Amino acid sequence: MADVTLSDIRKSYGAVKTIHGVDLDIKDGEFVVLVGPSGCGKSTLLRMIAGLETITGGTLKISDRVVNELDPKDRDIAMVFQSYALYPHMTVATNMGFSLEHRGAAKTEIAERVKWAAGILGLTDLLDRYPRQLSGGQRQRVAMGRAIVRNPQVFLFDEPLSNLDAKLRVVMRGEIKALHQKLKTTTIYVTHDQVEAMTMADRIVVLNGGKVEQIGAPLELYDHPANRFVAGFIGSPSMNFLTGTITKEGFQTSGAVVPLPKVTDTVIGQAAVYGVRPEHFRLDNHPDYASVRAEIVLIEPMGSETQVTMKLGDTLVAGVFRERINGSPGDMIHVSLDIDSIHLFSEDGTTRLN
Ligand SMILES: Nc1ncnc2c1ncn2[C@@H]1O[C@H](COP(=O)(O)OP(=O)(O)OP(=O)(O)O)[C@@H](O)[C@H]1O
Ligand SMILES: [Mg+2]
Repeated sequence: MADVTLSDIRKSYGAVKTIHGVDLDIKDGEFVVLVGPSGCGKSTLLRMIAGLETITGGTLKISDRVVNELDPKDRDIAMVFQSYALYPHMTVATNMGFSLEHRGAAKTEIAERVKWAAGILGLTDLLDRYPRQLSGGQRQRVAMGRAIVRNPQVFLFDEPLSNLDAKLRVVMRGEIKALHQKLKTTTIYVTHDQVEAMTMADRIVVLNGGKVEQIGAPLELYDHPANRFVAGFIGSPSMNFLTGTITKEGFQTSGAVVPLPKVTDTVIGQAAVYGVRPEHFRLDNHPDYASVRAEIVLIEPMGSETQVTMKLGDTLVAGVFRERINGSPGDMIHVSLDIDSIHLFSEDGTTRLN
């Protein structure tokens, strides 16, 4: 168990800078998820923590020890990759015990640790099988077993579920969470899937272009994204954005005026970006919500909810409603907006205005 501290961590490949100074304090036992679009530097950052990639600048500490120059094997870290990389000619038990054997552990200790890990991961009956005789989810569990037998101070996961089908991903993400609750090992988990990030993390780090955009608890990021990038990245379906001007009467966007939350007078007249999540539209004329007219473009009944693409002024927006909706493209409907849940950003998207 250990804290992990990154101070101004940088990475360049030759002249190309990919990580631009990342600061991150991970507490002992915390489950931190690094999330961001492809190429933003998630794997690079994780590989630097693991010692698989050199660190160009800054300081990396595990517990109180600076480990910048330390060999991967001396960092007491275990990493689980997207490709499980199991040895095909070894049984599950041998695969799981391999790293201990490699370190010269005694046979009885290896057997004991493997038995313990197999028990935790539900692999006890599969110990004599070969990887080819396992399902994808079982293989992923063996890969995790291989990581936990050593009882490392830190677990690193790099998109461990992306090779699994959607259903199994949901099951396995629950298993990884449960494993963390049992072992309480500091965990850094990389994904580009924001649903995984939301459901698994104690804290999420949103990365973009090698920089941290925001760090916070999942619902903090959801409710108070610091900028337009985070607002658009966290949440599914994504937040809708309208561009326009803040006026005394409301937010003036092309072809419509939409209701504004309370703002300071200083921003009146300012060009801005208006963000509203699909679930913050209502069909009923809720007394607390201000109403606007929208034109139905597409109705998609999902059973539990209805997704509606609609035109608000000249902008296409997505709404998600609890109700079932009868209507056809071209029909006008009244929708209300939960103004307490409106997000306002500067025109360039970099700062939050409310
Ligand atoms: N060995 C390398 N040499 C040069 N550039 C590299 C190298 N490895 C990674 N990069 C670059 O560094 C940037 C970050 O890559 P990285 O693999 O960390 O992204 P990622 O966030 O993990 O993306 P993905 O979600 O696609 O896995 C990318 O622009 C990539 O092209
Ligand atoms: Mg990656």
